[in-house]
Amino acid sequence: MRKILISGASRGIGKAIASKLLKEGHSISLGVREKDSLINTILDPKINDQEKLILHKYDALDNNSSEEWIKKTLKTFNGIDTVIHCAGIFKRTSLLFSDKEMHDIEYLWKVNVMGPWILTKNAWKYLSMSQSGRIIVLVSMSGKRSKGNLASYSMSKFALMSLCQTMRNEGWKKGIRVTAICPGWVNTDMAKDIDQFPKEDMTQAIDIANICSKLIELPNSSIPFEIAINCQLETNN
Ligand SMILES: NC(=O)c1ccc[n+]([C@@H]2O[C@H](COP(=O)([O-])OP(=O)(O)OC[C@H]3O[C@@H](n4cnc5c(N)ncnc54)[C@H](OP(=O)(O)O)[C@@H]3O)[C@@H](O)[C@H]2O)c1
Repeated sequence: MRKILISGASRGIGKAIASKLLKEGHSISLGVREKDSLINTILDPKINDQEKLILHKYDALDNNSSEEWIKKTLKTFNGIDTVIHCAGIFKRTSLLFSDKEMHDIEYLWKVNVMGPWILTKNAWKYLSMSQSGRIIVLVSMSGKRSKGNLASYSMSKFALMSLCQTMRNEGWKKGIRVTAICPGWVNTDMAKDIDQFPKEDMTQAIDIANICSKLIELPNSSIPFEIAINCQLETNN
């Protein structure tokens, strides 16, 4: 059984992954901005097993936020061997952005790139110690190709993909394996305004949770680096 940090577990993909992995018996430590968001759910430590479930404050905008979260997790689980990065935001900032959209670009950069980078950096020592560390990152198809006019979101996800490649390279000899999951639209709050096709035809968060559950069972010799998930035809990806 693994000792797992999951960011962005308050809703959407992170929450689906956390619920699935907890049911399977893993120890999971959730980083959330608002602890009350999970009250009375399966992910509420007051209801569930407190030795296997931690809820801790984590805000990707605060560079020091992951240190306390990791410290608390180590104390309770006596190690960390897996990090699943689900915290992320979406903005439609285009190439010719207005002055007031400059903030959105900086915000995307901090949450989607620096957040996972700093969290990984702080957990690295413990992932290495396990000799079979796992890092799963919710990138996006927007980290593989730039479609339409999502300049800033795509820029952040390409950067995140580059970070995944570096983590893979630097972690390889230490037994750390990295997987970049790259879905198109997933039926969560992030896709709530998408109306070009029905929500039931989008990838569902539970399907990504099922993929993660399989991924963490695989040995060091069999971990896919990238998983592209299409819910619409894209012939080049
Ligand atoms: N949904 C899609 O179509 C889709 C497709 C491809 C990739 N992805 C990627 O998958 C990941 C998860 O997306 P989702 O669909 O689950 O989105 P979501 O339902 O909007 O959930 C986003 C999660 O990120 C957290 N978050 C936002 N800002 C944060 C911050 N500053 N610090 C810490 N946590 C923060 C949110 O916490 P709060 O509840 O506190 O806001 C929430 O838990 C993201 O990286 C996203 O880019 C999503």
